This record gives sequence, C-alpha cells and structure tokens, in this order.
Amino acid sequence: MRLALISDTHLAPVAAAFNANVEAAIDWIEAWAPDAVIHLGDVTADGAEDPAQFEHARRVLSRLSAPLHCLPGNHDVGDCPPAGGAKEPAFSPRRLAQFRGALGADQWWFARDGWTLIGLNSQLFASGDPEEGLQAEWLENELAAARGPVALFLHKPLALDHPDATPDHPRFAPPGPRRRLTHLLEGRQALVVSGHVHQHRRRRIVGADHLWAPSTAFLIPDSIQPRLGDKRVGLLTLELAPDGAWRAEMVTPRAMIPHDVLDHPEVYPQVADLPRSSM
Ligand SMILES: [Fe+2]
Repeated sequence: MRLALISDTHLAPVAAAFNANVEAAIDWIEAWAPDAVIHLGDVTADGAEDPAQFEHARRVLSRLSAPLHCLPGNHDVGDCPPAGGAKEPAFSPRRLAQFRGALGADQWWFARDGWTLIGLNSQLFASGDPEEGLQAEWLENELAAARGPVALFLHKPLALDHPDATPDHPRFAPPGPRRRLTHLLEGRQALVVSGHVHQHRRRRIVGADHLWAPSTAFLIPDSIQPRLGDKRVGLLTLELAPDGAWRAEMVTPRAMIPHDVLDHPEVYPQVADLPRSSM
C-alpha cells in the first residue's frame, strides 16, 4: 500500500504562503498517485479560533484524488490539558463537531495488505471529555482484533526517546495516555506516525517504530524550538508491504518554500514578539 502523509498544513484564507505550499504538495501527490492520503493534523491555521477555516481547508484539499483521512490537531479543535501552558484554546467538543462536518471522521480504521491502520484523535487525550473513554475502548477492541502489523496515526508524538523520560509538555501526548498506548503496542509489530512538531524524525521506542512527519507549511526556528530532528518542510511517502516491512521517504516538492513562522505575523500576530536568534 502506498500512502502520502501530509501534516501541519495550517490552512486559512489569510495564510497565502502556507496555502501555496500545500498546493505544491497536492501537485506532487497527484503525480505520485497514492492509494490514500493521511493528514496528521493542524489542518487549519486556527480553526480552533475561527471554524470558517475548516471549509477553506476542505476546499483546498478537495483537489486530492485519493481518499483523504484527516486527524485533528491543537490548532483545529483546541489542545488537551497543557503541562507547560499551551497557546491554543482548550479542547472543544463543538469545534470537533465542526471539524468532522467539514473534514470527516477524526478516528478511523481500515485494513489493507495485511496491515491494520488506525487514526486516533490525540486532542481527546486527558481532556476528560466522554469521547476520550470511548476512543480508548474502541482502540483496545481494534488492537485486540488486529492480526499482523499495526500503523497508528495521531497528531502528537507519544515520546521523545522513551515514554518515561519524555517531558510532560504540550509537544507530546500527555503521560497517562502515552503510557497506556505504549503498553497496548508492546509485543506487536507497530509503527506510530505523528505530526505537530514540524520536524522529521525516526526512532525505535520500546519495540515500536516512531515516525514524525514534517509540516508542509513552515519551520519553527531554533530560537523558539529545540532541534529534535530534521527541520525541513515537506511530506512523507509511506509504503507498507504485506510482510510487515515499511519504507518512508521525505519529499520536498520543488515549489515548496521553507517558510519561517516568525516571518508570518499575518497568520500569527503573536510571532512579532518572539526572539529571532537563540540566546
Ligand atoms: Fe500541532
């Protein structure tokens, strides 16, 4: 199975630079012709504040020919409880309903070529929303029924290098769900794919492969974000073989521009106050 993975597109009518980068990604994906496209969240620049951005994003992404499976991010539906003080509003069930109305299910499952693919809404984690428990129960049932390798997709990465050594920080899934998920995946062949950090990274953590997808939209400079992986804009191709082997490649289409978020106060006015160089 051939998948194209896009993430952190940050689409909005005002975000012309980010919209253009996703158009470049779509051009590339259309030529590659995958079986499906997975969006790992932060589809919108700030749907959590302005839900009209969902319809804009839906229109932009409708040019994709392959089936599209989206997941929500903190910029779409708000954030799970922050450990270090998240900048986005708190998770909102109303925003999630609006996200689903425009972009489809936020939790999904399909099986193909011996693999089970599961999309999770990481913004429900530790939210206390009744859907959090339902999602956890659903996931346990799906994993119990799955035979063969599993690919799990969600917006926030589970861990940096080890679940117990990963800080309680909005960059990662909160500690409780992180530990439960890691435990659920123990002893199986699993690939965990996330977005959110705007960096590409690969690690093997407690027996599972962890893959971070880059943003198509912009980079977050070292002055405001540590370098944990590869800071490049782009997308990933992911090929899943029936024997459980997988292969991912990062692609940066020629027309895609490596924007720096600090250069885009038209989208995020707050960046005007942030430092441009590391102290
Ligand atoms: Fe995010």
